[in-house]
Amino acid sequence: MASRRPILLNAFDMNTVGHVSHGLWRHPRDRATEYKRLPYWLEMARTLERGLFDGLFLADVTGVYDVWGGSADAALRDAIQLPINDPAVLVSAMASVTRHLGFGITATIAAETPYAFARRMSTLDHLSEGRIGWNIVTGFLDSSARALGEKVAADHDRRYDRADEFMSLVYRLWESSWDDDAVIADRARGIYADPAKVRPIRHEGEFYRLDVVHPCEPSPQRTPLLFQAGASARGTAFAARHAEVVFVPNQGLQATAAVVRKLRAAMAEAGRAPSDARFVTTLQVVVGRTESEARERHEDYRRYARPEAGLVQFSSAIGVDLSRHGLDDPVTGGSADAIQSSVASLQRHSAGPTVRQLLAQMPLGGRHTPVVGTPAQIADEIEAWVDEAGVDGFNLVRTVSPEGLEHFVELAVPELQRRGLHKRAYAEGSWREKIFGRASARPPAVHAARQPHATP
Ligand SMILES: Cc1cc2nc3c(=O)[nH]c(=O)nc-3n(C[C@H](O)[C@H](O)[C@H](O)COP(=O)(O)O)c2cc1C
Repeated sequence: MASRRPILLNAFDMNTVGHVSHGLWRHPRDRATEYKRLPYWLEMARTLERGLFDGLFLADVTGVYDVWGGSADAALRDAIQLPINDPAVLVSAMASVTRHLGFGITATIAAETPYAFARRMSTLDHLSEGRIGWNIVTGFLDSSARALGEKVAADHDRRYDRADEFMSLVYRLWESSWDDDAVIADRARGIYADPAKVRPIRHEGEFYRLDVVHPCEPSPQRTPLLFQAGASARGTAFAARHAEVVFVPNQGLQATAAVVRKLRAAMAEAGRAPSDARFVTTLQVVVGRTESEARERHEDYRRYARPEAGLVQFSSAIGVDLSRHGLDDPVTGGSADAIQSSVASLQRHSAGPTVRQLLAQMPLGGRHTPVVGTPAQIADEIEAWVDEAGVDGFNLVRTVSPEGLEHFVELAVPELQRRGLHKRAYAEGSWREKIFGRASARPPAVHAARQPHATP
């Protein structure tokens, strides 16, 4: 038992009132409305480090959930990822009160330029001493395209074409603009950086044009640890090339196992070693000292949950206005430009689930089936996911905040440690070194980030 590899454990959250467990902000002990204030986040960062979490994964979205009823009204009323503040700005403060915790920041390629984005990530990687990750998102909302001044969202596969070009540019800025020994900082000679060891990145492509040196000196990891969550055919190819931590939607043990197998095979085909990637899925946990305490807690949370708000978010995930559906209408189809894994999840029902069935799948306001039980029962479930679905770890979904995390740290973590499923101490080094147990903070030489790119 003790020979097990410890799981990878991240908290899954967002710089917003309502992340994916809608309605829980109304619980009397929930403090998510304090998302605008640093003390709330600093306390959370300290709690996570006490529980030896690997990271805090911060989701983000550009645009609003306005497919439901054709407006953002429902999203505003129920605080469905709106209002939402920038995730990256939180991180340097949280890094300053922790030493090991990693920070996965979601950023949408459509909302960024390679130069400005590469600079922001390098800055955070410096300030956190190598603890930054990036969840690469291509964007899936029409409202995002409207927010960014695009006439319509680029179609699904074209978003990935743009993303590939964006990736090649940020890799070049991070990895090849500055040599390792470019910074001399020689006070006597008055030379900070050796110009012969810093080169501009020049590019003239379909989506971007660039001619500039990277503005930041090399940070500990150079390229941040790369997360990605696309599961469509094009998304799989993209993940196979770029992702170091793949975020797989939780579709139940068997379906998730199939997705993990498919992605591992695609990675092998792309020439990457199985040990070069980790797979995480979502897990929502309500833990108690006894089974009855856990069940009571779940029932208490459930009284505040708003599955109807979960449905508003799901409307945008599949690109279908479900406000027009009756409770017993089946939900079939979905937009090819939306989140294809969400659309595909509907096909598990032969006739399409009804709206009523979808609502029943959201006991805590989002499409997660919470694991409710004692520390031993939670650990059994985690063991099953590792053994049967082949995942390496989890993004732990927020419940009532911050008590859900505090309960997990106090109750579940010691049991997981007893079973060898959770580490007893952090490893030293950057986030990438901690996660892969390697002695280099950089992506491995076979990774796309390190492939030679011609500088014209
Ligand atoms: C588990 C999971 C988490 C995601 N998190 C985000 C997110 O935080 N922000 C976002 O804009 N998109 C998010 N997405 C959307 C994906 O990044 C991607 O844009 C979408 O899945 C479409 O790609 P695909 O059709 O290849 O799956 C997430 C998707 C999944 C499956």
